[in-house]
Parts: sequence; C-alpha cells; structure tokens
Amino acid sequence: MPPTYKVLTPNDLDSILNPRHEFAREVLLGLSKEEKSLPSRYFYDDTGSHLFQQIMELEEYYPTGCERNILTKHASDFTDHVAAKPFNLIDLGSGDGSKTNLFLADMLQRKCDFTYIPIDISEAAIREQGVELEMRFPDLNVAGIVAEYFNGLLWHSKLSDRRNLILFLGSNIGNFHRSQARTFMRTMWNLLQPGDLVLIGFDLKKNIDVMVRAYNDSQGVTRDFNLNLLQRINTELGGDFQIEKWRHFASYDVFSGAMESYLVSRVEQEVTVEAVNQRFHFDAFEPIHTEYSYKFLESDIQQLAADTGFTIVEQYYDDRRYFVDSLWRVEKVV
Ligand code: AVJ
Repeated sequence: MPPTYKVLTPNDLDSILNPRHEFAREVLLGLSKEEKSLPSRYFYDDTGSHLFQQIMELEEYYPTGCERNILTKHASDFTDHVAAKPFNLIDLGSGDGSKTNLFLADMLQRKCDFTYIPIDISEAAIREQGVELEMRFPDLNVAGIVAEYFNGLLWHSKLSDRRNLILFLGSNIGNFHRSQARTFMRTMWNLLQPGDLVLIGFDLKKNIDVMVRAYNDSQGVTRDFNLNLLQRINTELGGDFQIEKWRHFASYDVFSGAMESYLVSRVEQEVTVEAVNQRFHFDAFEPIHTEYSYKFLESDIQQLAADTGFTIVEQYYDDRRYFVDSLWRVEKVV
C-alpha cells in the first residue's frame, strides 16, 4: 500500500486562519522584526472606527473636508456616468458613510435603479450606517457586507452581473506601499467587468507643514487612534502594554512621499502578549511603525492607472487642489 496523503483545500484552513489568529500572527511577526511594526488595518476595531470618525471632523485633518468639497460639487457628474443602466454602488471601507450620503441623494432624486453596497471591517460601522440610511433614505436598497475589501468584493461579484461603480475614497489607497497599491488595483481589475468604474481618492503632495499637522492634531485624537492599537492587543490578545509608556509620533518622509506614524517607547520595558506566548523587549525611544499614508503626484496616479488596466475618465479636485477623486474605467482587451 502506498502511503496515504491529504490534499489541503482552503476550506480545511478556514478555521485555522480565523481573524483572531491572523491578528495574533501579525503581531508576533511585526514585533519580532529588527524594525518593529504593526499593520495599520488593525486600527479599525469598533473603538478605532469611532476615533477615526472623530479625526474626520478635525479641521487639521484636511483630507475629509477636501473630499466633501469635491463630492458636493460633483455629485451629479458621478451620477451622469452610471445613470443609464441599473448598477451597484460599492463603497470600500465605507465607515460612517457620511461622504457617500453626499451623492446618494442625487442618485435617488434622479430615480436611478441601483443597490448601495457598503463594505467595511467594522460591524458597528455597518450597523450604525444602516440605521442612519434607513432614516434618511427609506427607499434606498442597501446590502452591507462586513468583510475586508477583497473578500467583500469577491462575495459580491459572484452575486451580481450589473454594472459596478466602486468607491475607494478617503485616500485609503495611501496605506499601501506603492507596489502593494499596484497589486491591489490589479486584483480589483481582475474582479471587475470592462466598463465598470472606480472612484479613487488620492491625497496629493502639498505643503509639508499642512500634512504634518494633519497627523499631529492639537486635540490628540490621532494620538488616541494610534495608541488604541496597543489597547486592542491588550484586550484581544492578552497583552500588557502600559499605554502611558508610549507616545505617538508622525513625520513626513520626503523620499518615499509618505506620512508615517509610530508609537515610541518612553522607557526601556518588556511587554507580554499571552496569545503568542511571547515577551517583547523595547529600548527607551524604540519605535513601532504603525502606518504609511502615501501622498501622490499627478504622474503617480497616471502611472498607477496605466500599469493596472484602467483609463482615467475624469479628475475631480477640491478648491485648494489638495486632493483628487479620480474616476477610472476598467479596460479589457477581449
Ligand atoms: C483612513 C487611511 C486614509 O492615512 O490619512 C488618519 C488614516 N491615520 N490619521 C490616513 C489616518 C491617521 C487615514 N486613512
């Protein structure tokens, strides 16, 4: 008898790869590196999502105001591009949906036939947005999904063959390294049909002081947002981070063109994380890198579209030209 073997399928691995394990694994790997880091997508537990909603209301955090300005000015222009046929409006990382509201009203008024599909990793965000939408727009079809971007998109693309308009607002794309952004957009292209549209928010390079202030707000909300990551490790993974022994630091790297956020250890200390059976040592002044927020040039945007199979349909700017919402169309050869 030849020895037996097992063919592993993704299904066999599902229970092992549950999100809690994934978070634990990423914390273990990130804190084991020579230059320690934690991935920024773990900011968005329910507390973190609420803190980010507060950040969006800050004067100093200019991207939100810029994008509201754009979406208010151009709501009916977006609708023009999709109004002719039934479509899905898919909102990646919708959060509280306050931006989307700016053009949902226009689409409803013009009697468009569409379903609104917010996708977010925070269940609280999806639930609360649902309640709000029900009150504001009782006639709107909503089909929210609690998932990471591509899981949500994959799930949805199996269920529908309508034309899609994907929203990827707020410069969420800035959290990716430039090469990751390319992979991300190419993966999205692969899930979409020719003619589908994507509206992507890009934060543009600008006066460095303006950018630095946006990530070092005077009320300390961004600080709390960053520190919440340690709190989350404490509650979900049995960590014993003492939050007051850490400080928030954010700076602009002129070479990479990114705002970068760190948590810096105030003292030499040891931190235990039970879920990974590990103790981590930190020197005084040792940083943990927590976030990249890349800023873009016009040429970066053109290059990214060209490299990932999209044509740029239109560029929509705010009045100060700090930010652009770029409308892309999926092009396929056959
Ligand atoms: C939601 C990822 C676009 O990078 O500007 C805000 C998150 N971090 N302040 C950004 C954030 C610190 C934000 N994004």
